[in-house]
Amino acid sequence: MTFSTDALAGRVAVITGGGGGIGFGIAKAFVAAGAKVVIASRNQERLDTAATELRAMGGDVTTVQADVRNYDDVEGIVKTTLDTYGALDVMIANAAGNFVVPAAEMSPNAWKTVIDIDLNGTFYCARAAHGALKDSKFGGRFIAISTTRALEGWPGCAHAGAAKAGIMSLIRTLTGEWGKDGIRCNTIAPGAIGDTEGVKRIYEDAGRKANELSSIPLGEFGKTVDIANAAVFLCSDAGAYVAGADLVVDGGRNRGRASPIVNTPAK
Ligand code: COA
Repeated sequence: MTFSTDALAGRVAVITGGGGGIGFGIAKAFVAAGAKVVIASRNQERLDTAATELRAMGGDVTTVQADVRNYDDVEGIVKTTLDTYGALDVMIANAAGNFVVPAAEMSPNAWKTVIDIDLNGTFYCARAAHGALKDSKFGGRFIAISTTRALEGWPGCAHAGAAKAGIMSLIRTLTGEWGKDGIRCNTIAPGAIGDTEGVKRIYEDAGRKANELSSIPLGEFGKTVDIANAAVFLCSDAGAYVAGADLVVDGGRNRGRASPIVNTPAK
């Protein structure tokens, strides 16, 4: 099931972390729905490989090497987008970093690294894109990636959990401040998405795959296309009245975990 080929026609979308994983999945879905895409990442080689695949789909694609921890780099993404296409209608702050380490063993620099990428990087994307999003003739869209783990606590990922909670607060504030500018700000909260490096490292390599699967009511990991479809919806005309939402796409994992009857039978 996909959207029509003109669901995002005429839109110009920036996707940070667009060279792989969920970001690349979003880029593919956006190209298929008629958007022009700018993918940004630290790794130019990954970007080139991704761009080749997107162009083979018929996509109009631009790549920008950038580290979202650096505000000048993020401004550079926006400038390249406006210089190339004359508009920036969608900014998807997808780039993220994460690794499993207990808080008691986490170095201050490990903490700072993830906060810099996830939370500061998301603010930088919003701040740098605001003027262009305000000018969008479609009504600008700003999407950030959250997680349901942010609000329930995330043992092993204190840095990413705190960053994502901060992102959720930021998006709510921006919704209030930027609605008057026609900008719809939302988060998407992916569950465990099977075809990503994150799930491989956090669950599979750590021997927690079976345990994780058993906690998902729909019984399987998600796919990048599931998150991509949520992003297409939010950025299309169909999502025009959605602002300040946290769209959870997790196979019911969050609700399943919350149910003592389903997941934790009495001993
Ligand atoms: N466990 C504990 N500490 C870790 C770690 C791990 N697995 N990985 C990194 N760190 C610490 C480093 O030791 C360093 O702290 P120190 O200076 O006190 O030693 C700090 O984090 C920064 O690490 P460094 O490797 O220099 O950072 P980086 O900027 O090169 O890369 C990431 C950081 C998060 C981007 C990197 O782990 C990465 O590329 N991850 C893959 C992408 C990713 O995480 N995607 C998201 C999936 S959800």
